[in-house]
Amino acid sequence: MSDSAKRGRDLFFSDRTGCVNCHSGANFTDELYHNLGVGMDAAEPDLGRFVVTGEEKDRGAFKTPTLRNVELTAPYMHDGSQQTLEEVVEWYAKGGHPNPTLSDKVKKLELTESEKADLVAYMRSLTGPFTPVRTDRLPE
Ligand code: HEC
Repeated sequence: MSDSAKRGRDLFFSDRTGCVNCHSGANFTDELYHNLGVGMDAAEPDLGRFVVTGEEKDRGAFKTPTLRNVELTAPYMHDGSQQTLEEVVEWYAKGGHPNPTLSDKVKKLELTESEKADLVAYMRSLTGPFTPVRTDRLPE
C-alpha cells in the first residue's frame, strides 16, 4: 500500500470523515439505507427506500454500497450521476446535497486537496480478486 493510501485509510476510519460509520465491516457496508441527497434536486427524485417502507425517514435513502473493487465500478451512486472517485470525495466534502431527510451522519468535511487524494488512493487499494463461487457444488 502506498503512503498516500495509508494516510487515506487513517482518514477513512477517523471521526474527521466518518466514512466508516456507514461503510463498515468486511465489505465496507452497514447494509443500511441513508440519504446523502444524491438526485434529490431532480424534478421527480427517486425516493429509494421510501417506496418500500412508506416511512418518511426513508425518503431518498439508498443502501450503502460495498467499496470493494470500487475503482472498477464507475459511474457511482444509484443514479450513476458521479463519474469518478474524486467527484464522490468532493460530494462528501461539501456535505452531500441539502434536503429534508439528509442523513445526520453527512456533514461538511474540512479536507485539504492532498487529503482528498489520499482518500481516493485508499479506495483504489480496495481492488482485489473477487471471491470465487464454486458453481460445480451447488445443488441441482
Ligand atoms: C451516512 C452514511 C454514509 C457515510 C458517512 C459515507 N457514505 Fe459513502 N455511501 C453511502 C450510501 C448510502 C451510498 C449510496 C448513495 C446513493 O446511491 O444515493 C454511498 C456511496 C458511496 C460511493 C459510491 C459507490 C458506488 O458504487 O456507487 C463511494 C465511493 C463512497 N460512498 C465513499 C465514501 C467515503 C470516501 C466516505 C467518507 C468521506 C463515505 N462514503 C461516507 C453511505 C455513506
